[in-house]
Amino acid sequence: MKAPLLLGTWSFALKGIERALDPLRAGGDPLDACETICSTAERDETVDSVGYGGFPDASGAVTLDASVMRSPARNGSACCIRHHLDATRIARLVMEETPHMMLVGHPTDALAMAHGLPESDLLAPSARRAWLQWQRDPGSVKQAPDTSFRPHDGGPEAAGPLFTGGPSSTGDEGDPEDRWRHHDTIGALAMAPDGEMAGACSTSGLPFKRPGRVGDSPIIGHGLYVEPGVGMAVATGEGEFIMGVCGTFAAIELMRGGATPLEAARVVLERVDATFAPTKDHQVGIITCSADGTHACAALRDGFRAVVGDSDGVRAVEPDLILHPGT
Ligand code: GLY
Repeated sequence: MKAPLLLGTWSFALKGIERALDPLRAGGDPLDACETICSTAERDETVDSVGYGGFPDASGAVTLDASVMRSPARNGSACCIRHHLDATRIARLVMEETPHMMLVGHPTDALAMAHGLPESDLLAPSARRAWLQWQRDPGSVKQAPDTSFRPHDGGPEAAGPLFTGGPSSTGDEGDPEDRWRHHDTIGALAMAPDGEMAGACSTSGLPFKRPGRVGDSPIIGHGLYVEPGVGMAVATGEGEFIMGVCGTFAAIELMRGGATPLEAARVVLERVDATFAPTKDHQVGIITCSADGTHACAALRDGFRAVVGDSDGVRAVEPDLILHPGT
């Protein structure tokens, strides 16, 4: 048993994992740890793909999606939240305070208000500037599912706004990957010292998505799955691709059948690859963990990182497997 263990997608999980590890070590709830990790990113304006600071949809409105999971019977999700940044908390309220597993649209904000969560304007100035620039230069990107926003992790030291444009920007900064250095969903997996598992993920979805579009993150079995006794998985990147192969559910089923976490991650990425023929503009990352705490992190191509928090401390790590290295 390697617990307590925390795993997160992208280097921006580092701050939250640092905050969550000690309480988990002290006997805390693994879902509380996941919520801490996600809510830390939700409050960070420099994270342009989650919570406040997340890029808006094509109409300029930020909408948030999130899910939480303890088990197939205990999970919750919220889609198209418009006025509250605590997306992970709202998904948890769906799980804990309603008889349902998913709420969509205005009722998510109503649930948050009923439980005293503060309303907030989700469109940060930096995200608004990015949206205005995108409106001026719409030909530079395509709408989902053909987005050219490939998320790329600059590393934990690459602090500051991830979007390098702005009012003074000419819009000609070269490679779109540098101009729109978008990360993606914050996904968190936690294992308590007694082996209890939980997971959560939170996102503002694809930048400038079609209004109403929902990706993998709030769909149980797509962006997140946790099954006590078997394992847990969280995915990030091109939501439509992950949805098409039921990515995290597939990973758990593979582990149930005897695959290691690394083998399961590889098979899921191979299915994405075979199903969608992704281009270099697309990225999918996945973290898998079996019930004994063995874990793996894999991605379609370069530029993905995970964060691990365990008895050796907290660190950003390169993937164990890149399906198409050098791309
Ligand atoms: N992976 C996040 C999304 O596609 O919405």
